[in-house]
Amino acid sequence: SSPRMPPHPARGRFLTFEGIDGCGKSTQLKQLAEHLKCLRLPFLVTREPGGSETSERIRKVLLSRESTGMGAPAELLLYFAARAENVARIIRPALAQGHFVLCDRFTDATIAYQGYGRGLDLRLIRRLHKFACQGLTPDLTFVIDIDPHTSVRRALQRNTEASRDESRFEQESLEFYQRVRRGYHALARQEPRRVRMIPGEDTIENVHQKILFQARRLIAAAHRRGKR
Ligand code: TMP
Repeated sequence: SSPRMPPHPARGRFLTFEGIDGCGKSTQLKQLAEHLKCLRLPFLVTREPGGSETSERIRKVLLSRESTGMGAPAELLLYFAARAENVARIIRPALAQGHFVLCDRFTDATIAYQGYGRGLDLRLIRRLHKFACQGLTPDLTFVIDIDPHTSVRRALQRNTEASRDESRFEQESLEFYQRVRRGYHALARQEPRRVRMIPGEDTIENVHQKILFQARRLIAAAHRRGKR
């Protein structure tokens, strides 16, 4: 590479939103995107499973009612197949351009759902992550934390409102979601700098303000870079 290239090319920041189904993370992602838009900071929104064309096709396979009987190993590998494509084709290019990337779920979801929820080997999941994502880890992760009793109620409501075919997970048991939630709590304990727990049983605006507070340094730094 040319000697004139800066040693660390401008790299965007990677923010992910996590939590059990119905926690409100997608609403919060939209709120933060709106905030970045107002500040005229470039950003890209993506989701998992999904994001790239191939990954969206894999999403259909994973979340379709017809896949209810799929075994845990196949399911795990499909999540990582979708992620590998999303990382390579969507997330990395945007970060290389210096954009914020807001992603609805990432590897933490696999640790929480497939690891803690289904009981798959956490070390295997971490190795697959290294293989599929080539070491890409979020700069900041928000876990919107709510009691599964609340989220299951919200999810059932959503199912009756919209006739989506994505109801497979929402039929999981309360105990399953309690394990998933404990998984997210464990992640926050292990990586407190990256993984921030945000109490989710509050108004959309209050939760949004807490997220803005946690992200304030990243946003301020990007703002300064943009002005140079
Ligand atoms: P979503 O409703 O937030 O888009 O997520 C779809 C479902 O997929 C949700 O029930 C969580 C589940 N999921 C996993 O089990 N493992 C994963 O790695 C990801 C990304 C999602």
